[in-house]
Amino acid sequence: MLKTITLGLLLGVLVAPSSAFLPDLLEKLWPQDSKEIFDTVARIPYTDLLNENPYVDPFILHSMTHYGFFYVVDVPEYSASDELTYLQKFFNLPEGVKHGLEIKKHNSANKNAYRGYCPGLDDVHSTLQFKNVFNIGPHETRVPFNNETMDSDMEKLRYEVQEPNVWPETGDCDFDKHFKEVFQKGFEHRRSIGRAFVKSIARSLSMPSLPSLFTEDEFSAMGLRKYPVRGEINTNMYSDFDGTLLRELEHVDSTVTVLSTFNNSGLQMLYKNEYREAPVSGENGFIVNIGKLVEDIIDSKMMSVRHRVVEVPFTRYSITYFLGPQFDADISRSMTGQLTEAGRKYTIFGEWIKDYLGAIELFYY
Ligand SMILES: *[C@@H]1O[C@H](CO)[C@@H](O)[C@H](O)[C@H]1NC(C)=O
Ligand SMILES: *[C@@H]1O[C@H](CO)[C@@H](O)[C@H](O)[C@H]1NC(C)=O
Repeated sequence: MLKTITLGLLLGVLVAPSSAFLPDLLEKLWPQDSKEIFDTVARIPYTDLLNENPYVDPFILHSMTHYGFFYVVDVPEYSASDELTYLQKFFNLPEGVKHGLEIKKHNSANKNAYRGYCPGLDDVHSTLQFKNVFNIGPHETRVPFNNETMDSDMEKLRYEVQEPNVWPETGDCDFDKHFKEVFQKGFEHRRSIGRAFVKSIARSLSMPSLPSLFTEDEFSAMGLRKYPVRGEINTNMYSDFDGTLLRELEHVDSTVTVLSTFNNSGLQMLYKNEYREAPVSGENGFIVNIGKLVEDIIDSKMMSVRHRVVEVPFTRYSITYFLGPQFDADISRSMTGQLTEAGRKYTIFGEWIKDYLGAIELFYY
């Protein structure tokens, strides 16, 4: 039924803006003179989303039921160009400096298992692995390990996933300071968007207890990504779906995603059984979507969009951010009490994360 909602019906439920203001607002949120199908995906102003202004809800609901993603735009005090500049400077640092920040899988002298640098270029034949990632989380410090209170494996894991960030120490104090500031702020923007989106879903779908699953974000993660131009092509890199040469295989995400593609083309979303280029996130916006776990929790009332990145002839940069439920959130049941797919194996998100981290090389990096 949701799929048959028309613009007229949507207008009927719009309440907040005055009627004189409405046409301008509509044109901005939902351009009508569009050429491409994805030009009609909602573009929600950041401030209205964060202020929980209910007029944004039907637009988000419409995009999430028709396309599985939407845009957040007009983010105050945010510059994608600044992020891109610092991201590029980071990846251009001498290999020795980056080596010092590597996760312990790559540098056994280090303690950090999740946060930090992951070169990930060991296998040029793999579609998924040919990228560099710098992973940032929500924690800067953590309480000292207390063996008395960590009496179960789950408690130990809860402690482990709260791993503090590592930040570059290059000797260039100005760079180090600004890099950290830019990405700490960027992390906050994305987390705020993720949480405000969850609240909007809760309002639209009358699921008032949904936000309580996202109160803490022990394992939210932001990944700065560089996809270098690939020198070698092999048959694994072609899509099984339509034969297109890919950089990132077709997949759906798991939790809540806030993505920056800057001005880089390459991201394609599946719509009506065909992959189409998604408009870029640009200078002042983000692309937002949900993954399978969240889709199941909300009884599939919004969809997780299948997407991929096609091969492009330039070095491609992006930033992913994933907001997961909190560690002890029950993910086994949907909002109406149905068993979720994850629920066949797990009760709380922490258990899910444990297996997911086992496969972290595949997903985050
Ligand atoms: C994207 O392109 C626009 C228009 O050319 C430009 O103003 C903006 O700075 C670019 N932003 C980024 C992050 O590359
Ligand atoms: C922590 O406790 C376990 C038993 O609960 C014990 O085997 C282990 O040696 C302790 N570790 C430390 C560092 O005290």
